[in-house]
Amino acid sequence: MSSISSLDEMRSILPDSADTSSGGHLIVGGCDAVELASEYGTPLVVFDRATFEARARSYTAALEPASVAYAGKAFLCIAICQLVDELGLSLDVCTGGELATAVAAGFPPERIVFHGNNKSLDELHAAAESGVGRVVLDSLEEIERVAAAGLRTKLLVRVTPGVEAHTHEFVQTGQEDSKFGFGLGDGIALEAVKRALEIPGCELVGLHAHIGSQIFELAAFDLAIQRLAVFIAETQDRFGFVPSELNLGGGLGVAHTRDEITPDPAASVARIHHALRREFGSLSLPVPRLAVEPGRSIVGASCVTVYRVGTVKRIPGVRTYVAVDGGMSDNIRPALYGARYEAFLANRMDAPPGPRVTVCGKHCESGDVLIKDVHLPDDVAAGDLVCVPATGAYTYSMANNYNHVPRPAVVMVTDGTATTIVVRETNEDLLRHDRRLDGSMPGNPSNSQALDGLDISDSSS
Ligand SMILES: Cc1ncc(COP(=O)(O)O)c(C=O)c1O
Repeated sequence: MSSISSLDEMRSILPDSADTSSGGHLIVGGCDAVELASEYGTPLVVFDRATFEARARSYTAALEPASVAYAGKAFLCIAICQLVDELGLSLDVCTGGELATAVAAGFPPERIVFHGNNKSLDELHAAAESGVGRVVLDSLEEIERVAAAGLRTKLLVRVTPGVEAHTHEFVQTGQEDSKFGFGLGDGIALEAVKRALEIPGCELVGLHAHIGSQIFELAAFDLAIQRLAVFIAETQDRFGFVPSELNLGGGLGVAHTRDEITPDPAASVARIHHALRREFGSLSLPVPRLAVEPGRSIVGASCVTVYRVGTVKRIPGVRTYVAVDGGMSDNIRPALYGARYEAFLANRMDAPPGPRVTVCGKHCESGDVLIKDVHLPDDVAAGDLVCVPATGAYTYSMANNYNHVPRPAVVMVTDGTATTIVVRETNEDLLRHDRRLDGSMPGNPSNSQALDGLDISDSSS
C-alpha cells in the first residue's frame, strides 16, 4: 500500500537511503524524486550509490574483493565500472560490448572475467589485446578459438552441474538442458578440461558453475557443490587436475515485492564455504578458493524508476489502467518473465492507498504491463509520479527502443547530489543508424529538410 506509514514495509525493496520529505515526496540519496523528475525528465532511473556500495561490501565482508566479480550484465555503464573498480571487485563481462565498456572505464584488465556461450574470434582477440585476467570456456569450439586468438590468460571451464535452482524456468542456466557450459553427465566436461589443459600459453585454474537466477533456496548450492566435488575427484584421477578456484557464479535472489525476503550475501557465502569444506573434505580434496559473480544482489535494490502518469483509464467493474511514460522498453522483465514489482506515488507518499490498478506503459502492445495489480491512491491522475522500486538489475541493461522510444537517463544520487551517469537518449540517437533508400545519410538532424519535417527534437531535459 502506498502511504508514508508503509515506507518501512518497503525498506527491503527500496534503496537504503529512501525517505520521505515533509511534503510527502520520495527522497533517495538525499535528493527529492519530484525535483529529479522535473530536472531530468521521466522515465528516470535513480541510482543510489550508497546502496550499491553497501551490497558490494556485504560480499566483501565474507570474501576478498577480487573474488567477487560484479556481473555487468545486470547493469553496466562506465560509472558503474568505476565504482566496481573503486570497491576492488572484479568484473564479469560477457560480450565484446561489455568488455569495451570496461576498457573505456579504465577497469584493470587483470580483474576482468570474460564470459559468454558464443564468444567470437574478434571478441577473443579484444580480450587478448586488453589483457583480461580470466576467460571462462563455454564450448569445445571456443577452446579452439582461444588457442587461435593467442590469449595468454587464466582459464576456467564452465560446467552445468544439473541443479535446478528455484526460480523461473526462463532464467535458469544450471540444468543439463542449457545452452551454457559443459554437462557433467556425458563426459564432455572431462574432455573440455583435458583440452583446456593443453592450450598453449594459458593456465587452467578453475571451474565455473552458475546455477540460476533469483535463487532464494540456498540448498541448490549445496547440491551443486556436491556434484562439482565428485567431478573434481575425477579430473584429479584422470589428469591430476585439481582447480585452485571454484567460481559459483551469481544468482542470489533479490526482493522485488514486500512479501519477498532478500537472502543476506555474507550469510549465503558462509553457507557455501561450509558446503565446500564438507563436500571437498569428504573426498579428501583441497578446498578451492571460492569466487562469486553477483549482479542482481548488488545492483537490484540500488535503483528505482520514476515515471510520469499520462492517462488513467477507468473501466467500471473491470480495471483501471494507469499509463506511464515508459514501459516494456525500459523494463521488459514483467513481459519477458512475469516479474512482479511494487509501485507507489513518489509525489504523494502520504496519500492513502486505493483499490488495485494496473500500471501499463505507452507501447503498442497489450502485454506492455509493468504491474498488473497494485494499490495506488484512488485519485491517481495524469501528472502524478509513479515510483517502481528494485529496478537496478536487468532493466536498463535490457532496455530497448521498441516503438522508437528513447531509453531513459540514469542519475546517481548521493548525499543530496545528483549526477547523470547515463544521458537520456534522443530521437537523434535513434535515427543515427538509419540510411535513405539510396544508402545515404539522412543528414544533419538539425536540418528539418533532411528529415522530411519529422520532429526529432529532444523532448527530454
Ligand atoms: C555466468 C553468470 N554469472 C553471473 C550472473 C549474475 O547473476 P545474478 O545477477 O542473478 O546475480 C549470471 C546471470 O545470468 C550469469 O549467467
